[in-house]
Amino acid sequence: MTNTKIALAPTVTLANGVELPRIGLGTWPMNDAEAAVCVARAIQLGYRHVDTAEAYGNEAGVGEGVRTSGVARNEIFVTSKFQKKWHSVAGVRAACEASLKRLGLEHIDLYLIHWPNPDQNRYVEAFQGLVEVLKAGLVRSIGVSNFKPAHLQKLFDAGFVPHVNQIQIDPYRRRDDVAALDAAKGIVTESWSPIDRAGPMLSEPAVRAAAEGHGRTQAQIVLRWHVEHGYVPVPKSSDPTRQAQNLNVFDFALTAAERAALDALDRPDPHMFDSDVFGH
Ligand SMILES: NC(=O)c1ccc[n+]([C@@H]2O[C@H](COP(=O)([O-])OP(=O)(O)OC[C@H]3O[C@@H](n4cnc5c(N)ncnc54)[C@H](OP(=O)(O)O)[C@@H]3O)[C@@H](O)[C@H]2O)c1
Repeated sequence: MTNTKIALAPTVTLANGVELPRIGLGTWPMNDAEAAVCVARAIQLGYRHVDTAEAYGNEAGVGEGVRTSGVARNEIFVTSKFQKKWHSVAGVRAACEASLKRLGLEHIDLYLIHWPNPDQNRYVEAFQGLVEVLKAGLVRSIGVSNFKPAHLQKLFDAGFVPHVNQIQIDPYRRRDDVAALDAAKGIVTESWSPIDRAGPMLSEPAVRAAAEGHGRTQAQIVLRWHVEHGYVPVPKSSDPTRQAQNLNVFDFALTAAERAALDALDRPDPHMFDSDVFGH
């Protein structure tokens, strides 16, 4: 147990009343052994939200970290996601039961369709499967990941509105179209790779200047940008110092000019996975 004391992140209320902590710990590409250690330590530092997926192959480690953290299970929010082979009502139930078994937990707090896989065209059926596991009490909230407006529209047309849409979004990839549609429908946008995997974005002059101005790290500036846009970032770090820094962004605010300077980093055609062609 560390002596560092960090305030818990505030929460945002999902459309069904469930409280989602506004920063989570990403766990890809940790393996089970690393996840068990890093998740337990992150929770002891103050994290109350952990992001995993069937595809990461680390649900057992994440569950172990949650169970050994010393913090009550009902104070921790665990997200997982399922693969495209489960895109059917019965498939989602089977995927969810298998995920719970690997995690060693009684329920998942947020369960997501990992990628829409429009070529397979079964994500509406998969969402019906999510509704069923929600009704059965296996999960507390449901959503999607990597859904673009056209994918979301097909869900809306079928009468479904996810609680969350987890997408790649950051100052280089503003994606205002997806974010605006999420907001209009009461869907919380989560950001994956929120600090662009510590790539060149963190060294942009606008990010450096704000970091110097506030006496914060460049990653903290970018994470604060997510929070101020109303997004819920899930930065991954295996390092306790960086984990602590990444969580500690709720006690300062960007100026309007700093935020505008980060907004202006948006690129017309950024490198990113296109969920119309990529998925698993
Ligand atoms: N839904 C999806 O399709 C999808 C896709 C990709 C990822 N995700 C989720 O999103 C999470 C985060 O995305 P990501 O891991 O791709 O990228 P990220 O969180 O933007 O960046 C993680 C990288 O940045 C480093 N880092 C972390 N904090 C730092 C800091 N304060 N200063 C400098 N470097 C720092 C980490 O190294 P250290 O560990 O050494 O600190 C790691 O190499 C994943 O772990 C996963 O849970 C979801």
